[in-house]
Amino acid sequence: MDIVLTGDRPTGKLHLGHYVGSLKRRVEMQDSGRYSKIYIMIADAQALTDNADNINKIRNNISEVALDYLACGLDPQKVTIFIQSQVPELCELSFYYMNLVTVSRLQRNPTVKNEIQLRGFKQSIPVGFFTYPISQAADITAFKANIVPVGEDQLPMIEQTREIVRSFNTLYKEILVEPSAVLPENTTCSRLPGLDGAAKMSKSLGNCIYLSDTSNEIKKKIQSMFTDPTHLRVEDPGHTENNPVFIYLDAFCKDQHFEAFLPAYHNLEELKDHYRRGGLGDGTVKKFLNEILQNELKPIREKREMLARDLGEVFQMLHKGSQSARSVAQQTIQEVRTAIGINYFNE
Ligand code: TRP
Repeated sequence: MDIVLTGDRPTGKLHLGHYVGSLKRRVEMQDSGRYSKIYIMIADAQALTDNADNINKIRNNISEVALDYLACGLDPQKVTIFIQSQVPELCELSFYYMNLVTVSRLQRNPTVKNEIQLRGFKQSIPVGFFTYPISQAADITAFKANIVPVGEDQLPMIEQTREIVRSFNTLYKEILVEPSAVLPENTTCSRLPGLDGAAKMSKSLGNCIYLSDTSNEIKKKIQSMFTDPTHLRVEDPGHTENNPVFIYLDAFCKDQHFEAFLPAYHNLEELKDHYRRGGLGDGTVKKFLNEILQNELKPIREKREMLARDLGEVFQMLHKGSQSARSVAQQTIQEVRTAIGINYFNE
């Protein structure tokens, strides 16, 4: 049976983009009963690779991310939620894998290349940051995960993991498992654009709706959303493609929503047709989107608020998850040491 591992860096609260792109999917996987194990990792150590001087940000966001997970329906009885730094075996694995990867191969990793540019590291790239694809290979292989649900930007990491696995298995012994990435199914809404129309929601751009936002915050954010800049007057014909309001509707709107919130239409196609023809104002569409999102996010926010009242319990769950993850990684480490031939006292 399949073993799933995925995770997030705790650099901020999770937002609607995470929700459509990954969280919903994880809950479906959890509830399908089709996987023998599902690991969800809060990648604090990876977050430190470009936040060494920002430890409070990472520390504080561990519970925020955990709350977001639980509020969306991830169930610690069914999935193992753990904190990366609490499984030190991952460091040891990375250390051995480092010998199987060349500097030039890391330099060619498109995601790392892009992130180095974005962060403006120039000649001052932290070694830990540069090598994080290796540590990510450790995260995945320590649990013998064969399925890694991720966004497209993570494909180079999975490819690099597969290469490390092949090198290891050829050089030492066939014990590691080659993972496959699983991308979000619906590519049009797998990456929600920002409220401002930017390619994605990102905390640094301040264009997100957070799962923890109040109903008033959500409403205000939707009211000020970017739409079609050529749709100046209500009578003007409008564009629905590249229009974030309609992209969000693509992601969240179901036919039943019309009956409940906008009975003048039956489905999204009708609404889009009217917008394209002209005569439909942005205000109406935004109001509809607001109803839908309020309806979707209210139970999540309420659950989150309830759980946030007892962070002790959340940390207890993380502690238990980390212990359980660690015992699995310890087994793998024994096998790895034996395969390499350095398990001097334990063979
Ligand atoms: N790099 C991932 C991200 O930024 C987080 C991550 C760390 C991860 N280790 C992982 C994802 C292992 C999948 C598998 O989102």
